[in-house]
Amino acid sequence: MNMKYIKELYHNYDTEYLAQIAEKICFLNYGNKVFLRGLIEFSNECKMNCLYCGLRRDNKKLNRYLITPDKVIEIITKFYNFGFRSFVLQSGEFITYKIKDLCYIVENIKKKFNDIAITLSCGYFNKKELKILKENGVDRYLLRFETADSKLYSFLKNGLSLKKRIEMLYNLKELNYETGSGFMIGLPYETDEIILKNIKFCYDLKLDMIGIGPFIPNPDTPLGNLLITEFDKIVKITAILRIILPFSNIPATTASGTIEKLGREKLLKAGANVLMPNITPKEYKKNYLLYPNKICINEDFSHCINCLSKRLKKINRKISLDKGTSLNYILKKEGEYYVSC
Ligand code: 5AD
Ligand code: SF4
Ligand code: FES
Repeated sequence: MNMKYIKELYHNYDTEYLAQIAEKICFLNYGNKVFLRGLIEFSNECKMNCLYCGLRRDNKKLNRYLITPDKVIEIITKFYNFGFRSFVLQSGEFITYKIKDLCYIVENIKKKFNDIAITLSCGYFNKKELKILKENGVDRYLLRFETADSKLYSFLKNGLSLKKRIEMLYNLKELNYETGSGFMIGLPYETDEIILKNIKFCYDLKLDMIGIGPFIPNPDTPLGNLLITEFDKIVKITAILRIILPFSNIPATTASGTIEKLGREKLLKAGANVLMPNITPKEYKKNYLLYPNKICINEDFSHCINCLSKRLKKINRKISLDKGTSLNYILKKEGEYYVSC
C-alpha cells in the first residue's frame, strides 16, 4: 500500500462515501456483530508526564487508586458469569503495581476460565517483560503510538523516542501477541501529512486492533486550552482504516462518544466493530480521568449495557460477548490478502 493511495482516499472522497464502503466491508467480515470488551481501569497511577493526559504524574488534583489483584480477579469472575469472554486491563505506567501482580491475576484467572482473552494496556515494557507476561497467559496488548511524527511524539512525551515505542510494537508481534495500537486525532501541531503518516503506519504494522480517538484537552494538563478537532475527521479516518485493514478489530472509542452524542454509533457505521464498556467499579472509575466529561463514569454497568444494546439496535447491530479474536491475527497471511496499490 503506498502513500499515494491513502492520500487519495483522504483528499478525494467525502466521508459519507468512505463510511458506506467501510460499513459494507465490516458487514462482510463480521455481519452485524459488535464485540464487547470489558474494560477494567485497575490503577490510575502513572510515572509518566505526557503533556496531554490527565493521569500525568504532575496532576495533583487526581485521587490516585489501585485495585488489588484479588479484586481484579473478582471483577473478571463477576463479568465472566455475565457472559463476557474478553477483558482489557488498563492502567498508567506502573508505580506500585509490579509485573508479578499482573502475572498473578492472569495466571489465576486463566486457571479458572480457559476460554477468555486478556488484553493489557499498561504502557511500556521491554521484550523480556513482555515474554514473561505472555508466558503467564496475556493474549493481547494495546499500546498506542499516539502520533507517527517523531518530533511531535518527543514533544508530547517529554523527550521520549518514538523509535522505542515502535520497537515495543514489533516485539509484541514477534512474541505473537494480538497487537493493538493507534493514535489521537487533533493533537497540537498535527498536519494532514502527520495524519496520513499515522494511517500508513497502522497499515505497515498490520495491526490486529486499531484504537483511534479525538484528543480532548484536559484543563489539568499543559495542553488544557486547545480546541477539539471536528468529528467528521474521526469518522473519515476510521473509514479509511477499515478499507485498508479489512480484518482488524477497530473499536468505537469512549473518547469519540464523549465529544459527540452519537459518536460511537457514527464510527460503527463507518467500519468500527468493537465497543469497550467500562466495568471498573463506580467508586474508582470517576478517577480515571484522562480527559474531561468522560461518559459512563456516573453510570453503573447495568445502565450502560442496556444503553448500548438500545443504541446498537437502532443501527441494526447487536452485541457479541465472544472472545472476538482479530481476523487479522487468525489469517496471518501478511501480504496475501491486503490491497497493494
Ligand atoms: N484526550 C484523548 N485521549 C487521551 N489519551 C490520554 N489523554 C487523552 C486526552 N486528553 C489516550 C491516549 C492513551 C490512552 C490510554 O488514552 O491515546 O494512549
Ligand atoms: Fe501515563 Fe499513558 Fe497518560 Fe502518558 S498517556 S501520562 S503514560 S497514562
Ligand atoms: Fe454508558 Fe450509554 S453506554 S451511559
